[in-house]
Amino acid sequence: MLSNKVALVTGGGSGIGQKIALAYARERASVAVADVSAEAAQATATMITAAGGQAIALTVDVTSAEDCARMVERTVGQFGRLDIACNNAGVAGGLAPLAEYPLDLWEKLLAVNLTGVFYCLRQEIPAMLANGGGAIVNIASVLGMVGMAGTPAYTASKHGVVGLTRVAALDYSAKGVRVNAVGPGFIQTPMIARIEDNEPMRAEVESRHPIGRLGRPEEVAELVLWLSSPQASFVNGAYYPVDGGYLTR
Ligand code: NAI
Repeated sequence: MLSNKVALVTGGGSGIGQKIALAYARERASVAVADVSAEAAQATATMITAAGGQAIALTVDVTSAEDCARMVERTVGQFGRLDIACNNAGVAGGLAPLAEYPLDLWEKLLAVNLTGVFYCLRQEIPAMLANGGGAIVNIASVLGMVGMAGTPAYTASKHGVVGLTRVAALDYSAKGVRVNAVGPGFIQTPMIARIEDNEPMRAEVESRHPIGRLGRPEEVAELVLWLSSPQASFVNGAYYPVDGGYLTR
């Protein structure tokens, strides 16, 4: 699906981002795996190269505009172009009613989940325009569409990602850059280990998914892969849930 394409994934060292990087590589893209953890980025890149694919690992903190600029520069420097980007890096944390929610967590979650996506977009889009176009997928959440009590920062940041996605599509799709958002339900990754380890909480969260289970990161990756591919050539500015029916309740 992605022969001769160059793809970039932020947060590619773990969970959903790792499965996206592997899916891109499986479909023959060259992949830049970016993560704030150098070891995690390298581990994913090594999985790809060990399977015969092309990959580089980049150490990037998406809360730094300079890091994001270097990330795109190094990707283009290594592979000659940028066709696909998945802005996936994100963090969760804190569970408290809004008025009691800690200020430092608010700032951290907004910096990574929202400002980080903005910084990445403003580097990725010009690189794609220079090359005739491309496709971008931003990882939002079901909490980009509905609220969840006690999660003001995460919910606001993910609603913000959906808004940024729409604006980017309006600004650039006529020039050849499609931009879409994906909204996972709860997915079994290190991010939700604390929920998985607490049986009553896990059962409660599972029950919010009509399909009756949590999702797997591979199930998110398959949707992201399709949206990133030429098969999705008329899909633009959209929010696609991959949530076992979470939003239908
Ligand atoms: P994860 O914790 O397994 O992986 C996140 C990756 O992002 C890690 O490798 C981490 O080092 C990296 N990262 C964190 N801060 C970063 C920064 N400042 N710069 C660069 N990289 C950074 O989490 P998971 O579950 O794979 O999450 C991926 C995305 O999916 C996130 O945006 C998350 O909000 C979203 N998501 C996750 C859901 C879940 O239930 N696991 C549900 C809905 C959305």
